Amino acid sequence: MTRQAAHPMLAVPDHDEAARDDYSSTFRHYVLSTLTPGNRVVHDAEVVPAFTRAKGRAPATRQELRQAMERHPYHQMWGSLLRVSQEIMWDGLEGSVHRQLPKLIARAQVKRPVGSLYLDGSFVLPRYLAAVDHHCMPGSYSAEVAEGDVRAGAIYDRGVYIYHHGARGSLHDANGRMLAAFLNGTYPGFAPRRILDMGCSVGHSTVGLAKHFPKAEVHAIDVGAAMLRYAHGRAEALGVPVHFAQANAERTHYADASFDLVVSSNLFHETARPALANILCETKRLLRPGGIMVHMEVPYRYKDLPLLEQVLRGWQTFYNAEPFWDAICSIDVADAAKRAGLVDVRSGYVRRSPDPVKEPRTFTDQWGTGPDFRFIVTARSSA
Ligand SMILES: C[S@@+](CC[C@H](N)C(=O)[O-])C[C@H]1O[C@@H](n2cnc3c(N)ncnc32)[C@H](O)[C@@H]1O
Repeated sequence: MTRQAAHPMLAVPDHDEAARDDYSSTFRHYVLSTLTPGNRVVHDAEVVPAFTRAKGRAPATRQELRQAMERHPYHQMWGSLLRVSQEIMWDGLEGSVHRQLPKLIARAQVKRPVGSLYLDGSFVLPRYLAAVDHHCMPGSYSAEVAEGDVRAGAIYDRGVYIYHHGARGSLHDANGRMLAAFLNGTYPGFAPRRILDMGCSVGHSTVGLAKHFPKAEVHAIDVGAAMLRYAHGRAEALGVPVHFAQANAERTHYADASFDLVVSSNLFHETARPALANILCETKRLLRPGGIMVHMEVPYRYKDLPLLEQVLRGWQTFYNAEPFWDAICSIDVADAAKRAGLVDVRSGYVRRSPDPVKEPRTFTDQWGTGPDFRFIVTARSSA
């Protein structure tokens, strides 16, 4: 695994912590790449034949196949190891971040910022975020443990890098570069003056996108104060001006028609169904006439996936504290965008781009579930 870029906000691991990070990342990678295919073997050789013998037909729904797979010891072992890899990762990160927390809190207090940070003291966390520690991250996106806290951001920044085995670049900004590549390829010449990124976390994709539109005023929202303080400190340390604010993407404080471009990356799968509809309505409200929306998500659209693939991807829903994963992978997001009043709605798969300028992107006829693919729904606000 390549090393994560050590920007000044990063909780840099010491020797033993780095070894532990490498272990949990390699462990997870091993389970995913080497053990996952074994599920197909037991599915074909044992699970489906046994189900067919008992019922006189093959499993017809995701639920039926999931329950049948869950009775097989190989699938149980695979799921247990995947879950353990996740727990080991967060466990190691907690200690490392706590050791450095006072220093990180001090670093987040930027003296002469080029961007800004707005925290809302009366912010109410939606229940779909308050009720669960997403992907088993202790405290999830919004816990506060100290004055001026940045813990959630510090844990998340290192955690997602380990989780993805460094596959999204040393600054974990591949999704931001991909949004830029999609805009370059699909709306050539579009030069937004004001951009909003919804559900920015620590700003991985925000900063990646902002670098491609240096003349734009870039805003980014999320729910957790500790996440946003860290995001602000990180963007400042990287010299990228971003205006961060604590706001619910379902109803923000910005005036109507404030933005030329509203984006998100991996926001939808953390939200409940009614929230998704609200976020799309809010997107429409915030866009100037003719403005563009690009919401990017994980590339698992169940309508395109065989049942076994749905079960393996949907494992997150039941065993990795991602309660909305199955629902969001099943929803017709383009239809939801049309119902929100957006126009020119298009959706589909997009391939990752190594360089947004040299290799712009639009929808591809090919699709896949690997890290090279994302799902995008794009639309305009009527002119
Ligand atoms: C998986 S992270 C996405 C990270 C980031 N966009 C990226 O691509 O690197 C999802 C983020 O969405 C945020 N989120 C979920 N629901 C939200 C809402 N209603 N309003 C604002 N942020 C929300 C979560 O707090 C979390 O930080």
